[in-house]
Formats: sequence, structure tokens, C-alpha cells
Amino acid sequence: MTMRTRNLGTTGPRVSALGLGCMGMSGMYGEADRAESIATIHAALEAGVTLLDTGDFYGMGHNELLINEALRTAPAALRENARISVKFGALRGPDGDWFGFDGRPAAVKNFAAYSLQRLGVDHIDIYRPSRLDPDVPIEETVGAIAELVDKGWVRHIGLSEVGADTIRRAAATAPIADLQIEYALISRGPEREILPTLRELGIGVTAYGVLSRGLLSGHVSADQGFAANDFRAHSPRFQGDNLRHNLTLVESLRKIAEQQGVSVAQIAIAWVLSRGEDIVPLVGARTRQRLDEALGALDVTLEEADLAAIEAAVPADAAAGDRYAAEQMAMLDSER
Ligand SMILES: NC(=O)c1ccc[n+]([C@@H]2O[C@H](COP(=O)([O-])OP(=O)(O)OC[C@H]3O[C@@H](n4cnc5c(N)ncnc54)[C@H](OP(=O)(O)O)[C@@H]3O)[C@@H](O)[C@H]2O)c1
Repeated sequence: MTMRTRNLGTTGPRVSALGLGCMGMSGMYGEADRAESIATIHAALEAGVTLLDTGDFYGMGHNELLINEALRTAPAALRENARISVKFGALRGPDGDWFGFDGRPAAVKNFAAYSLQRLGVDHIDIYRPSRLDPDVPIEETVGAIAELVDKGWVRHIGLSEVGADTIRRAAATAPIADLQIEYALISRGPEREILPTLRELGIGVTAYGVLSRGLLSGHVSADQGFAANDFRAHSPRFQGDNLRHNLTLVESLRKIAEQQGVSVAQIAIAWVLSRGEDIVPLVGARTRQRLDEALGALDVTLEEADLAAIEAAVPADAAAGDRYAAEQMAMLDSER
């Protein structure tokens, strides 16, 4: 199978047009099956996916160790194609609690040293602070990653969930490959100021939450419930009346998907793919079945009339509930 590719900005690597986000394989959406997670990473690599996204705080190192095992047990040719994107900076306790971000230069180098060991690699392809540390100027955090680039430990610098001003300051410090940000049919905030800024500066996008954490997949029902350790148990969009309202949007989307002979998830992913060659959607598949479905989005062609029908079915700002709970929204520089 030939995988389409896209460039992460003018200075970043060329990667598969869809990336695999591995977060859900380390408990963020409740329990995940380790063997199936590794089989999913292998299947993604075999299908030509070259971008694997992780964070050192996904399962407090669990996700990086999982990727290490998946790469070690993959055929060498596939292993060499893999580009690993790592987020750092989120601080967590042994019980999984979250208590802020650390973007100090010494912390950046410390985080990187541990990630290199856990991943079992001699460099990280794209390294990015997961959030802006409000106490550390972005120039200092990015400057520390630039030092890691100079020493060969990191190839490219990325950002995550920061707004236009921070993007400009970071780009004035060192070349930035991409911004990782939530972008989906029902998460259109980046269109206002962030996407135009990125395009002006030649910075690419890795879009996450393209299925709005599964909400837009067509596989969620109003009464299914989520385990307490599942992000969705606390996400405003998955609560009571909000969820019921949001599922009506999904049903509107399903009608369009059925006319096209594809699934709701495929339409939602294809819509993000259609937003520009500079955008690489990350899909959070944690099983081979979900991965296959997500990869099918690459074969969906959306004409102007299809795009108009999709946006009429799910207008921008149609979702009920914010994309994060209030406490987490307050940590997003991108929402200021
Ligand atoms: N920079 C950041 O702040 C940030 C934040 C969050 C995530 N990320 C990255 O982005 C990646 C993807 O984001 P995400 O997991 O939040 O978003 P997502 O792709 O919108 O949602 C993933 C969830 O959707 C469900 N799903 C249903 N059908 C699917 C299909 N065909 N393909 C894939 N998933 C399907 C899965 O849950 P079930 O298995 O329960 O069906 C899966 O766990 C993460 O793995 C992570 O690497 C970055």
C-alpha cells in the first residue's frame, strides 16, 4: 500500500498523511490491551504510517516503553521509517494526578534524557512542550530544545496548544516544525488566528482530537458510560444533555457518511485532511480494527458540495460543552 505523505512545516520532516497517536494505549481512555496496542503500532507501520505521537507523561513513561517494545519487535525497515514525536513538561504524581507544567531549560534536558532511554533511541524526531509553562518564557523552553537539536539528541522542535503570540515568539527563537492542536469539525477554534499565523510562518499542524475523543466516530452511545479513569468521564462534551445534543450532530453526519458509503469516523477524519496539505491528523486508534477504519479515511474524496453538506450538518460551534474541563481549559495558551 502506498501511503500519502505530508511535510510538517517548511523545516520539519515528511511524514505519513495520518499519524498514530498512542496516548489511548496508556490508560487515558480507560484500560487498553498491551498486546493489541503493540499489534496496532505494527499494523500502522506496515500500512505506511511513519508518525508516532506520544508524551512522556502518558502513563508516566508507560507509553514510551510500549513504543520501545513495538519498535524493537518490528521489522528493521519499518522501524527505521518511524518518526517519533514526544511531548514533555506535564507533571504527574504516582496516582496519576496532574499538577502543572515544567518548561525550565534544565527540566527540558532532564525530560529528554529520560525519554531517550525509555524509547531506546539515539534521538527524538520532534520534541515539544505539552503546554506553555506560565512561569517560563517560551524562548527559554524552545532555546533548550534548540540546544538538544545542536547536540543531535532532537531533530525538530514542535509546539502544543499555544496561541499566535507564543507561536511567533517561539519561531523567532528557532525553526518550528509543527504545532499540535485539537482541530475537528466541532473544534474549530484554530481557524480564527492560529492557522493563519502558522501558514504565514511555514509551520505545519498535527491535529489531534479529530474524532473529538471518539465522540465523532459514530461508536459512542448516550448510555454507554465511561470508567472514572477515562478522560471522557470528565469531558464536558460527554456529559448528560451535552452528550445527547452532540450525538444528534453525529446522526446528521451519519446520513452523509451513509450516502458516501463510508463511516462517520472516516468522514470526520477526511474533513480534517481536506483542510490543507499542511495538516496531519493524528488518530487515536488503540486497536487494529479502529486503525483500519481510520486509514480508510485516506481514500475518501470530499468535493465542495460534500464539504458544504458536512458543515451544514455540523456547523462550527455546534457542539455543546467545551473540549476540556474548566481547569484544563485554563491551561491552554491557545484559548487566550
Ligand atoms: N497535544 C495535546 O495536548 C494532545 C492532547 C490529546 C491527544 N494528543 C495526541 O493526539 C492523539 C489522538 O488524539 P485523541 O486520542 O485525543 O483523539 P481522537 O482520535 O479524537 O479519539 C480517539 C478515540 O476515538 C475512538 N475511536 C473510535 N473510532 C475510532 C477510529 N476509527 N479511529 C481512531 N479512534 C477511534 C477511540 O476510542 P475507543 O477505543 O474507546 O473506541 C479512541 O481512543 C493522542 O493519541 C495523542 O498522541 C495530543
